[in-house]
Amino acid sequence: MTTPPRPASRPDRVSLLRYLRLFRRDILSAQPERLYRARMAEFRTPFFRSFLINQPDLVRLVLNERPMDFPKSSRISEGLRPLLGNSVFLTNGAQWQRQRRIIDPAFEGGRLRETYPAMLAAGQAAVARLREAPGRFEAEAFASHVAADVIFRTLFSIPITHQVAARVFHAFRAYQRLQPILNLAAFIPLPRWMPRFHRPGVRRRAREIRALIEALTAERMQAIAAGEAPDDLATKIMTQEDPETGARFDTAEMVDQVAIFFLAGHETSASALAWALYLLAAFPDAQERVLEEVSRLPENPDFADISRLNFTKNLFRETLRLYPPVPMLVRQATKCEKFRDRQVPSGAQIVISPWHLHRHRRMWEHPDAFDPDRFTTENGKACLREAYLPFSSGPRVCTGAGFAMVEGPLLLALLVRAFRIGPVPGREPVPEAHLTVRSRDGIWLEARPR
Ligand code: HEM
Repeated sequence: MTTPPRPASRPDRVSLLRYLRLFRRDILSAQPERLYRARMAEFRTPFFRSFLINQPDLVRLVLNERPMDFPKSSRISEGLRPLLGNSVFLTNGAQWQRQRRIIDPAFEGGRLRETYPAMLAAGQAAVARLREAPGRFEAEAFASHVAADVIFRTLFSIPITHQVAARVFHAFRAYQRLQPILNLAAFIPLPRWMPRFHRPGVRRRAREIRALIEALTAERMQAIAAGEAPDDLATKIMTQEDPETGARFDTAEMVDQVAIFFLAGHETSASALAWALYLLAAFPDAQERVLEEVSRLPENPDFADISRLNFTKNLFRETLRLYPPVPMLVRQATKCEKFRDRQVPSGAQIVISPWHLHRHRRMWEHPDAFDPDRFTTENGKACLREAYLPFSSGPRVCTGAGFAMVEGPLLLALLVRAFRIGPVPGREPVPEAHLTVRSRDGIWLEARPR
């Protein structure tokens, strides 16, 4: 195989009704093929206008140069609000700035090193689980389990087998198929008076997850007060004072943040890990090269060992290019703008699509091909700077980007060292965007102990 799967595009012209239907099913296959070539596209109907921008200088303008003029779209937040409340993922302006000042220090390089042993333990537990039941396995479920284990261990020092962790994990699983990260309103701003539709069960699931998280957070608050809290991510964040005001998060605000750490931290990493395992199975030569690199690792690799896995890291980067877990980002123009000589009215939705940018015909060489070595070429290096946004960019860049770039290669290293990962004939995955980019019928693979 030379090209890994991508979703079929819709015909160039379809009625609004058909577009809405396609969009509700999957935002990727609802788009026309021309978006892989376009520098900018406009969705215009009698009711709304939204603009997809695919041109590096415009993307830079929105994300890096004038981010405060292009806040997160409030319409986007609607779908996620029941679960995430006022979490850093949804807030804007001064509230968001304050939250980032408190959260960011916990994810800085040196402190990431302190978090690493918990990640390693989760990876080793995943290898042990797969050893007990080798053979055919569904990689998305497997990856969700290990990514959730990483988050529970790094955030609250509890493994996924802990009773509350297991309940949160199962409730999240049910939630993820119900609520796409982009609801229809992102592209199709509905009038304010129209009822927002959450799919049945979304609110109930959200309440259930939040009650569990609240118990964990309140318990931690007490442990901190008693001087008995472990030094994990939750403690780091809950004891961090805002350098400008000296204030800390209270329990309610921390619950919102914990909800986004679970969601952003496990859904995304799970999507990336499952696709990376699929690519290893589909491209055995690449798997051999990972094996060669990881067979030199000590039994318990440390943080620095993982940072030296150059090919494994490039393979993970290439996975995030082909299957960016967050396929589209949405912002809102707060004043009139002119993009490529076109008027962008105040209030218009601005869509930035890592999915299309990462496969853009005018930028990447052989854009649909799997080629981890591309990042060592001039074109690959230039595109890494200009057209590569798996973690977004600018001040709203993913808080967990550094975390994820250690976690992904570490898990791949441990798994490839222990197993030969192979494909299951006839089970080619079809990418679809749910909460993150997933496969329509799961990703079926075969693990044989080495
Ligand atoms: C492969 C893994 C990951 C990917 C691809 C990813 C991707 C992203 C992207 C694209 C955004 C920006 C969304 C937007 O602006 O609309 C984002 C934001 C965020 N991510 Fe991640 N993420 C990953 C892992 C993580 C992890 C492990 C954590 C935490 C433990 C995390 C926490 C967050 C938070 C808190 C935000 C909101 C930042 C803000 O709005 O200021 N992410 N992530």
